Amino acid sequence: MRAVVYDRYGGPEVLSIAEVPTPSPGPKQVLVQVHATSVNLSDWETLQGTPLYSRIGGLRTPRRPVLGSDIAGRVEAVGSEVTVFAPGDEVYGDNLTLKGGFAEYAVVPESALAHKPASLSFAEASTLPQAGAIALQGTAGITAGMSVLINGAGGGSGAFAIQLAKSAGAQVTGVDNAAKLAFMRTLGADEVIDYRAEDFTRTGPYDRVLDLVAHRSVFAYRRSVARGGRYRCVGGTTSALLRLTTVGVVAGMVTGRGLGVLAVKEGPAHFTPLAESCVAGRIGIHIDRSFPLDETADALTHVGEGHALGKVVVEIR
Ligand SMILES: NC(=O)c1ccc[n+]([C@@H]2O[C@H](COP(=O)([O-])OP(=O)(O)OC[C@H]3O[C@@H](n4cnc5c(N)ncnc54)[C@H](OP(=O)(O)O)[C@@H]3O)[C@@H](O)[C@H]2O)c1
Repeated sequence: MRAVVYDRYGGPEVLSIAEVPTPSPGPKQVLVQVHATSVNLSDWETLQGTPLYSRIGGLRTPRRPVLGSDIAGRVEAVGSEVTVFAPGDEVYGDNLTLKGGFAEYAVVPESALAHKPASLSFAEASTLPQAGAIALQGTAGITAGMSVLINGAGGGSGAFAIQLAKSAGAQVTGVDNAAKLAFMRTLGADEVIDYRAEDFTRTGPYDRVLDLVAHRSVFAYRRSVARGGRYRCVGGTTSALLRLTTVGVVAGMVTGRGLGVLAVKEGPAHFTPLAESCVAGRIGIHIDRSFPLDETADALTHVGEGHALGKVVVEIR
């Protein structure tokens, strides 16, 4: 089968197209003929090996030769202990542990997959598992009337998070680069901030802050949250995450604010509720661009360099 492979951390130039053996599923695994794989910032991070936590399991060289977590496709074969899926089923899921989505076939644990809703295309379904789980968990507990700020809101997870926070009745502020301000407004953001022009930690304080790209000091984040409010980060630099899990927790407790890192739970239970909202028309899926498998490096670059409005998809079939 054809796959986009790499054997060292680096920029998009370390990726190449290769003919590799089609993987075989283990007893609890499913072989999926991949139709579409969406790009997450985590793919770009694992390509480059930065932040450092993206090297878990492969400190010097990549642990998996093929990237791509959020896949959608058709079941080709199943392992001997698989009970939920059969060949021909249309499925989607976040294959964060095994990856392999930028290829014609991928092996996925049965537990990572769900049946694809018939009314969503493969490309649409592929946008949901990782970004959807982040957005759902990142906006949980938001209620009507709260002021909510989402930092990095014009990307894959943020585009869902803005819509979820708005549908809960919150007053939403989206922060991203200038080219994404209009896009965030079309998603429902009441206020938008260009992070290169304005410092959101001085425009609040907010009841809830969801940060997809943390890199500031704990004290800046404490300032951004109202007393009794909560700041949660899901991505950012290693040092920012370490500071938040140590000094941040204590600084938050002392000043009556919740500061911390959200460890996002994976799996179908955490993204299928968003798929139901998309099928019902309550939440929209925004695919900025689709690329063929041969142009996976360009797709990753489009996301990694911050040009994508919403999601980017590699369409394999
Ligand atoms: N905690 C967990 O368990 C967990 C699990 C999976 C993933 N993650 C993380 O969650 C994050 C999800 O990101 P995503 O896929 O939604 O990313 P994305 O689609 O790339 O969106 C991130 C957005 O942030 C913008 N941005 C970059 N620097 C910024 C800054 N300083 N201030 C404001 N905005 C900025 C980017 O645009 P520009 O670059 O153009 O500015 C981009 O629009 C990733 O960091 C990933 O590693 C966490």
